Amino acid sequence: MTSPDPQALRPRLPSPLQPVDDERFTRHGVRLVLKRDDLIHPALPGNKWRKLAPNLRAATEAGDRALLTFGGAYSNHLRATAAAGRLLGFTTIGVVRGDELAGAPLNWSLARCVADGMELHFVDRATYRRASDPEVLAALHERFGAFRLIPEGGSNALAAQGCTELGRELRGQADTVAVACGTGGTLAGLAAGLGPGQRALGIPVLKGGSPHFLHGTVADLQRAAFGDVRGDWTLAEDFHCGGYARRTPELDAFADAFEERHGLPVERVYVAKLLLALATLAERGAFPPGSTVAAVVTGTI
Ligand SMILES: Cc1ncc(COP(=O)(O)O)c(C=O)c1O
Repeated sequence: MTSPDPQALRPRLPSPLQPVDDERFTRHGVRLVLKRDDLIHPALPGNKWRKLAPNLRAATEAGDRALLTFGGAYSNHLRATAAAGRLLGFTTIGVVRGDELAGAPLNWSLARCVADGMELHFVDRATYRRASDPEVLAALHERFGAFRLIPEGGSNALAAQGCTELGRELRGQADTVAVACGTGGTLAGLAAGLGPGQRALGIPVLKGGSPHFLHGTVADLQRAAFGDVRGDWTLAEDFHCGGYARRTPELDAFADAFEERHGLPVERVYVAKLLLALATLAERGAFPPGSTVAAVVTGTI
């Protein structure tokens, strides 16, 4: 028997805060703590819970029974939406970037979505980029009927509002709170929830066309969610390691060493880049001695 209330999934909230004794930080007088959002829920870990839960609640209140959302071939967000659908009794439709994938065997991530009951709809990259155009949406409605639309990465005003709780849980716990950024929704909410004197730092994992593009997106999400731009937040743009899902030998070596030293599996697309960025910034003296940096562990391997 499923319940449409995400609270029925019993999330582990507030998520635990784990101090780590890491020489790359301590030698600069910096204390590192991990905000273990990856432990919130096995099927909706990290920012997936924080962003999806308010959208699921809104869907229930509006009486929507189907969710349609967008993602790439290995999207964490598609998997989380499919799992939420299975657990809470929503029909789910995933619009997947890349029509060349349609005839190919499903990768493990898309296979997981299908196993959770998601219907996949593959579209070419040009159509995917125009996903919010009225004609594209009209065609999707024509095909799938009524649905609640959740944007790529789950980042909308409700998601940003959901992520304010992450900031509130960290009040008084750190001077800087850092998070890896894809679509920017997590940073938008986190920054709005922090207390006075705390600052949020976003580490984009995509190589953006314009360095100001993500900045504008985060500000727009904050305006949509809160009516204005909130909190003290910045982006450190140089840590994408070549672009989305790209890896460098330095990144892999860093993540391997971190895993071995702290016994924490390090998700490579987002979390590894965040942690490497923080170690590099500590090395450059970006954090005052005596300060505490919290790294948000937004996902699992
Ligand atoms: C594990 C993980 N961390 C961080 C992010 C980035 O979050 P956002 O898209 O809200 O910037 C994502 C994408 O949603 C993710 O899957």
